[in-house]
Amino acid sequence: MTKVIMDCDPGIDDAIALTVLLAHQKQAQLIGVTTVGGNVKLDYVTKNAKKLLTFLGSNAELASGQAKPLVKEIETAGEIHGKTGMDGYDFPKESLNYPLTSNNAVTYMYDRISKSNEKVNIVATAPLTNIALLLKTFPDISEKIEHIYIMGGSTLQGNITLAAEFNAYVDPEAMDIVFNSGLPITLSGLNLTENKAYLTMDEINKIKDLGHVGVMASSILNFYTKAELEKGMTKIPIHDACAVISLLAPDLFTKSTNYSMDVCLTNDQYRGMTYPDRRTDAPIKNSIKVLEDVDRDAFVKYLFDSISSYE
Ligand code: RIB
Ligand code: CA
Repeated sequence: MTKVIMDCDPGIDDAIALTVLLAHQKQAQLIGVTTVGGNVKLDYVTKNAKKLLTFLGSNAELASGQAKPLVKEIETAGEIHGKTGMDGYDFPKESLNYPLTSNNAVTYMYDRISKSNEKVNIVATAPLTNIALLLKTFPDISEKIEHIYIMGGSTLQGNITLAAEFNAYVDPEAMDIVFNSGLPITLSGLNLTENKAYLTMDEINKIKDLGHVGVMASSILNFYTKAELEKGMTKIPIHDACAVISLLAPDLFTKSTNYSMDVCLTNDQYRGMTYPDRRTDAPIKNSIKVLEDVDRDAFVKYLFDSISSYE
């Protein structure tokens, strides 16, 4: 049985990603969810994880993690995800009673992964602060990690700045540590998510008809979509779902290249930029499987079937 820990900052697209992951528990058992400050502050992110795990009927463990990145102060994205980080749907108040197994995601992950009788996969859809601290604090844990599926970075455009994708921008030092950990990594960057792994408005409008989870997903996506449309986006990227689907259904991704990926750590307008070394004689620092294309129709169908499967 494939085992998974999801590190996230819900966040509306994280919510869709978690919904997809929990729809495939027979294939990939979600051991636990860990949270990190990102889209919104840690307390909101953790509350959102509680709401989602309750709503989706999960009993996965939950651990809250780092409130801020390794070096700089946190920068959030409330303009995209709303003040609470998941505006748009009234989750039952009692969902906030969902138990918190630990308030230290790093020791929680070390404990669960080291005790697992098989290697564990990590899906990371947020700034990589928790994961970087795990790998640096407990180097031996690497031998128990199967693969890390990351949404973050880009080989082309930025979103939070001209050069940087949000998760990379918030904690580039953490991304640099994870990229150079030597672990197998599959990366879904903006080059894939904004250009290929998106939903059209027509498709988004169909989600509300996909059962009670569709009503929830559609409600939170409405807020996210409004924000994306205000940015001038006409194709709505469901960024974090790519990290989950690259674990569950890798064949949907029709093109990928292994690159040595760098992260810019300077304190200037390029901070957080990620870029592949395309030189034929590139000195190999790492080898990241960068996803570059997806069968979009199949991606949309997979999303819709996952949401509908809760009925
Ligand atoms: O740039 C997109 C990423 O930043 C997604 O993970 C989104 O949830 C935000 O965290
Ligand atoms: Ca996220």
